[in-house]
Amino acid sequence: MTTTYRITCLINNDVAFDSRVWGEHGLSFLVESPEGKVLLDTGQSGEALAHNLAMLNLSLQDVNDVVLSHGHYDHTGGLPYLLTLPKRFNIIASEHVFEPKFSARYNPLRYIGIPVSRQMLETSANLILSEEQVQVLPNVFVTGNIPLQSEFEQGDKPLVLLENGKTKPDLVADDRAMVLVLPDSLIVLLGCCHAGIINTLRYVQNTFQKPISAVMGGSHLKPASPERIAATITTLQTEFSSIQRYHLNHCTGFDALHALKNAFGSQVSPFLAGETLEF
Ligand SMILES: [Fe+2]
Ligand SMILES: [Fe+2]
Repeated sequence: MTTTYRITCLINNDVAFDSRVWGEHGLSFLVESPEGKVLLDTGQSGEALAHNLAMLNLSLQDVNDVVLSHGHYDHTGGLPYLLTLPKRFNIIASEHVFEPKFSARYNPLRYIGIPVSRQMLETSANLILSEEQVQVLPNVFVTGNIPLQSEFEQGDKPLVLLENGKTKPDLVADDRAMVLVLPDSLIVLLGCCHAGIINTLRYVQNTFQKPISAVMGGSHLKPASPERIAATITTLQTEFSSIQRYHLNHCTGFDALHALKNAFGSQVSPFLAGETLEF
């Protein structure tokens, strides 16, 4: 098989027992395509990102494009480190990435948004904000905003926006996925998947009109009820039988990963920090 894409998990909650890379609650993938390299998300801290890059003998020197799946701190926390590097990145995200994002799981509310201002990114990087699909490299895309159409994927209640001292539900309009196009199929890279894995996969399949062969990243099934996990698996079986490989990690949670493993067997494996997948 000729390798077209190499995807390295730079940051994830979990690592292998004997790994020298660090784990932290967060996500970052380095995508290498024949046409260039793209960073999807930056993890929670520049310290872990720099450490893991060094341990893996990788660098961001030849990365020009950084995609932000959404504004939460565990995906954007490495941005201050990126801005210290002697280069000017293209940073691709939604306008909603700068919204005042809080978690109501804590009392008082905890800020869980992006740690850098829009002005800082505009000064130190090329900020590309779009609500529509963006082509990053040939055959490498970022989706636009993903509609919440599935009845069992309608957002995560404790996520709120705080505006003028008042909270309102945060449906994470900035949530987006990356899509790598193969000759006959698609690879889907999820960040935190706040839009829901079924909403995301339906949107990608409809937009690109090709079957999906692999999906990886955070599926945000950790807070999901057993009923929602069951409905997700049934829908994956009926609508997405083309998917051969599931490499879910980050916010997928043990219960969902276990249920997926029971349903799809050897097609499911975690994607630990420090690991590389080839397609
Ligand atoms: Fe998130
Ligand atoms: Fe996350």
